[in-house]
Amino acid sequence: MNMADKKLQVRGKVLTPETVECEIEVPNPFCLVIFGASGDLTKRKIVPAVYRLYRNGFLPEGFFVLGTARSPMSDEDFRDQMLDAVKQAFPDDFSQNVWDKFAEKLCYCNIDYSDAGTYGAIKDRLEPLEKKFRTGENRIFYLAVPPGIYESVILNIGESRLSEEQSGYSHVVIEKPFGRDTDSARSLNSALGRSFSERQIYRMDHYLAKETVQSILIFRFANSIFEPLWNRRYIDHVQITVAETLGVEHRAGYYEHAGVLRDMFQNHIFQLLALTAMEPPSVFEADRVRDEKVKVFRSIRPFPIDSAGEHAVLGQYGSGAIDGAEVLGYRGEPGVSPASNTPTFAALKVFIDNWRWNGVPFYLRSGKRLPKREAAISIHYKPVPHMMFKGIIEDHIEPSTLVLRLQPDEGITLEFQTKAPGGKLCLNKVLMDFSYQTVFTFEAYERVLLDCMQGDQMLFVREDGVDATWSLLTPLIEKLESEAGRLRFPNYASGSEGPAEAVKLIEADGRKWRPI
Ligand code: NDP
Ligand code: BG6
Repeated sequence: MNMADKKLQVRGKVLTPETVECEIEVPNPFCLVIFGASGDLTKRKIVPAVYRLYRNGFLPEGFFVLGTARSPMSDEDFRDQMLDAVKQAFPDDFSQNVWDKFAEKLCYCNIDYSDAGTYGAIKDRLEPLEKKFRTGENRIFYLAVPPGIYESVILNIGESRLSEEQSGYSHVVIEKPFGRDTDSARSLNSALGRSFSERQIYRMDHYLAKETVQSILIFRFANSIFEPLWNRRYIDHVQITVAETLGVEHRAGYYEHAGVLRDMFQNHIFQLLALTAMEPPSVFEADRVRDEKVKVFRSIRPFPIDSAGEHAVLGQYGSGAIDGAEVLGYRGEPGVSPASNTPTFAALKVFIDNWRWNGVPFYLRSGKRLPKREAAISIHYKPVPHMMFKGIIEDHIEPSTLVLRLQPDEGITLEFQTKAPGGKLCLNKVLMDFSYQTVFTFEAYERVLLDCMQGDQMLFVREDGVDATWSLLTPLIEKLESEAGRLRFPNYASGSEGPAEAVKLIEADGRKWRPI
């Protein structure tokens, strides 16, 4: 009998936009200034998100988007580009009527990011638009430019006093990557701190905006039955996996200098770790939640640099097959050096030195070109303390596991033992499965834009959080990079579950990875 036959289904209420019971407050009028508006992120994520929020009635009538970049464009050219982008994002769900009203709110201003003078031009352009759309002085500056020019844009916004708040708010949104090590992240934080207070700064991590990631805290802290079992007394270990089938695609220019530890661990995976391990805050508000997450980061045991290999395994994909199609190895991808030592996979073993987690390993794993797209957190409970079935059942009893499935097929599964019908004593592992089965109300970029308009920083990373994660990872990354010449890359085939050394990392502790 296969696992699917054994499922005990406990279906949750199906959430559709009609049945969502939470009230969503429409934000006050605002303007969104996008730096890098000719780029990929603006087309693929930012403008489609604003369009969908507007179409679904989550935005006020009073708002506008001012795109800025070096590419010369008129307002009409910008609208045409965004029309293509929105149609591409919602091919089956495009409304010409909504678009016509939305397009009137899109404007463009040609700038040179490093020329302080052109920020005056932005100001000159903003003032009449603010009057026309009655947005007051509520301004959001979204940095959708390559990370190398974040600092210059931030400093120029400050110099031109666009960061100052008088009758409205001035928020700045910074994309990832936020620095590439501790020093560069500190330098960026210090540039931000010269013109903005922490209350105005929104550091993006789109994983925090995923509905299922937000629901980790609800699952843990809105139910009283799980929390008593959420500690070293009952939990043997925790696994966090973010697997992708995609390769590096067109992003070699960035990825070659980043690698998987900077790209996925310092941000997304460490945030998942914090949400899994943190203590309940006294109130559910941005700074109290972020305080607890930072406490987790500060309790993580520093990686023992002299024996880094016992806690960290790196990999790089070779050629192979994904969904039956042949794919190139990383070194053969466009823009990648044929001798590249950039890691596309990593597995880490992490300990959190506090009362709740002492001695419980957290195994973290992420990679590109793995067999399936999957993000999940699995909580592996301890075996029963005494084997009272000895003599009747010879097999080892597989301990219970709770799996939080973050994407795709979002849901929660509890795997536990039951008695198989028939035989005197024959165990049967079954699944109690909750599946969200939902069209989520908000896509991640919609959520973060809405929160930024409403001044809610819960889903954004605070300065001390960024600093703590970089401080943990930078020495490890530097050590591993200094040994990169000795790595024998590629060391896993596309479509496999990663390098053999990653299997050894967990098997050396007598445990196994959950299959991807
Ligand atoms: P792009 O490479 O598309 O760049 C955005 C715009 O910045 C370009 O259209 C260009 O506009 C300008 N630009 C590019 N290179 C330079 C340069 N060297 N100097 C000055 N201006 C330059 O970036 P994305 O839109 O892909 O990403 C923007 C930010 O968002 C980056 O920080 C990225 O890391 C982050 N991000 C992107 C994601 C994505 O899916 N694209 C996902 C997550 C984060 P012009 O020449 O007209 O000024
Ligand atoms: C981005 C990384 O932050 O997250 C990418 O830069 C990665 O390399 C992506 O592919 C994964 O996000 P998601 O939402 O597709 O799981």
